[in-house]
Amino acid sequence: MLKLTKLTLAIAAVTLMASCGKKEETKPAAAPASAPAAAAAKASEAVEVLHWWTSGGEAAALNVLKKNLEDQAVKWNDMPVAGGGGEQAMTAVRARVTSGNPPTAVQLLGFDIQDWAKQGALADMSALAAKEGWDKTVPPALQAFSKFDGKWVSAPVNVHSTNWVWANKAVLDKAGVKEIPKDWDGFIAALTAVQKAGLVGLAHGGQPWQDATIFDGVVLATGGIDFYRKAFIDLDPAALNSPTMVKVFDRMGQLRKFVDKDFSGRDWNLAAAMVISEKAGFQIMGDWAKGEFINAKKVPGTDFLCFRMPGTQGMVTFNSDQFAMFKLGADKGAAQEKMAKAVMDPAFQSAFNVVKGSAPARTDVPNTAFDDCGKKAMADLAEASTKNTLVGSLAHGHAVPASLKNAAYDVITANFNGKADSKKAAADLAAAMKK
Ligand code: BGC
Repeated sequence: MLKLTKLTLAIAAVTLMASCGKKEETKPAAAPASAPAAAAAKASEAVEVLHWWTSGGEAAALNVLKKNLEDQAVKWNDMPVAGGGGEQAMTAVRARVTSGNPPTAVQLLGFDIQDWAKQGALADMSALAAKEGWDKTVPPALQAFSKFDGKWVSAPVNVHSTNWVWANKAVLDKAGVKEIPKDWDGFIAALTAVQKAGLVGLAHGGQPWQDATIFDGVVLATGGIDFYRKAFIDLDPAALNSPTMVKVFDRMGQLRKFVDKDFSGRDWNLAAAMVISEKAGFQIMGDWAKGEFINAKKVPGTDFLCFRMPGTQGMVTFNSDQFAMFKLGADKGAAQEKMAKAVMDPAFQSAFNVVKGSAPARTDVPNTAFDDCGKKAMADLAEASTKNTLVGSLAHGHAVPASLKNAAYDVITANFNGKADSKKAAADLAAAMKK
């Protein structure tokens, strides 16, 4: 992360250079000389997009992008790879690149973008970025991942965050939970009340990335922002194996008691469905979960509640979905440029993120079209970046590279499944997360 921090600092300097430097640019589609010529040009414009947006809410959001491109006569070849958090999708990308056949555009997170850029696999979008003014509108925390060596290599479509809780209002009423829990003890009391009412306290899917998503919030709630930074950005062994980290794992164990017996392997959207259908009270999940509620026609404030993991209000563990364009022949350039341009269009960012549950990746998109949870996401993000309480999500590839992230997953999941007690888990984490 040290490198990345330096990269962030270098951005201001690089910004100027990028806009002055003459980069090769794919020509925008010229006005058609004749109808057949235009048809031929259009027929060749297609994008193959590899992504992991396969749940109902995710697919609805993706359709906004698909339609935008189809309206510009760019054919959409869908390459979905199921699996929340994108691990399976990343395996598919590696296979495609190894066989010399990368997709046109790929959904990537944080350090994975940097890894592909380091390998020279990504197209340089700096000319388009300069023309469209991305430097001025994309927050530095995102640019740190979108740029490599000062060049734009990916287009951020959103900002998600992981320290959220989703609750069913009717279930809380039934359980006598009258207000949103404000701290850890309040949260445990609310979960207990729901369980006592005969329902599942915490809807959860036992998959490593979901366990880690909960963990993001528990670390923040237990140790605060400085502790999170020390442990997962600086990889300080003393923080990783500390009494605070032992407490974090103790709290994971507390949460485990509110999960139903069938949780193992369950997909995150099925866990969300348990809350939506009044079978469970709460789900701790990134704000893509809101996409499921919205897709089920549920109304925030009335049917469901969104709040920050108790004890983490004012702090945000973020991740940002970005589309990187893989280096392909010049004939693919025009369609890639259209797609990158569409992704960064302010009106599109509003329309897409309203459905996806995320906040826009640009600071100049008005919040008017967003519901209360979306407005809160945008306000929290702005507050956290001003107060320096915005940190990359460990679970979603924005704190450490994939190898360390996966090592953390192993420890978190082993502990959650009772295979390592809290003390051993903290020691294992420190051992696994060596710089
Ligand atoms: C992505 C989201 C996605 C979620 C579940 C996260 O890593 O950032 O866009 O909805 O995984 O699949």
